[in-house]
Amino acid sequence: MKISIFGAGRVGTSVAFSILHKAVADEIVIVDINLEKAEGEALDLYHGTPFFKRCDVKAGTSRDIKNSDIVIITAGAAQKPGETRLDLTVRNAKIMKDIASQIKEYAPDSLIINITNPVDVLTYLLWKETGFESGRVIGTGTILDTARFRSLVARNCDVSPTSVHAYIIGEHGDSEFVVWSNAMIGGVQLSKFCSFCEKESCTSLEILFEETKNAAYKIIQKKGATNYAIGAVTSTLVESIVKDEKRVWTPSVLIDDIYIGYPAVIGRDGVKRIVKIDLDEEEQGLFERSKNIVREFVSKII
Ligand code: LAC
Repeated sequence: MKISIFGAGRVGTSVAFSILHKAVADEIVIVDINLEKAEGEALDLYHGTPFFKRCDVKAGTSRDIKNSDIVIITAGAAQKPGETRLDLTVRNAKIMKDIASQIKEYAPDSLIINITNPVDVLTYLLWKETGFESGRVIGTGTILDTARFRSLVARNCDVSPTSVHAYIIGEHGDSEFVVWSNAMIGGVQLSKFCSFCEKESCTSLEILFEETKNAAYKIIQKKGATNYAIGAVTSTLVESIVKDEKRVWTPSVLIDDIYIGYPAVIGRDGVKRIVKIDLDEEEQGLFERSKNIVREFVSKII
């Protein structure tokens, strides 16, 4: 399993390190316009491989992505404090078009996972520019947002995150929303779970969602970027593909002719199928609004 990563920054290297922990790759190639940086990161990662499953880690140029099974894109400008992900659209679209042509030329049979923001807009652009089937062009979508929300609810309700089942769908950004109508803890509706909770004080679920939606802004303010959690998201997506796990995530997938975070079954060939969830009237409205926001920004670059 050969995996190439565009971008040797904090996100790209976190993705690479997390993939080593998952033991799903035989070869990782890191590509960056700063080849020196890519070489340094590749060496440092490779020196740790005796503690993982054997995996060769090298730096390279786009030619070196040849025969990659999966190409992961993290390259591009990252949000600065106060910037939204959508503010990066025009700057990162140029980079994405260039990377798309390199993937088309050197790794035409690969599966693409895009992280670069705005992830939904740019994953749509990659799909258009590469001409690949939509199922093998995937964005990380709202998988991270869903994980953030599940982890915050778990701490608040004193349960394991693995027992919190709730989707955040829509744009990976300010118009995302929780599908409250099917959010559960251990098979019990979230709202009902609260009714028999003995905790003296807890944070409202709405506040927990606001904390989720604004998490990246808060982390960027404090440490300059986010990288570990998105690294774990991406290596888990890779694992679902490599092991053909057929697990349901909320990646950025093609729905109603736009890419957006939505539940989908992920396996060997990428998106196996979309999981059509029931949305109540309010949620349907929020979903349409989010899709229209992504469409508006796609229209600025295509
Ligand atoms: C975040 C980046 C990955 O939400 O958009 O941390």
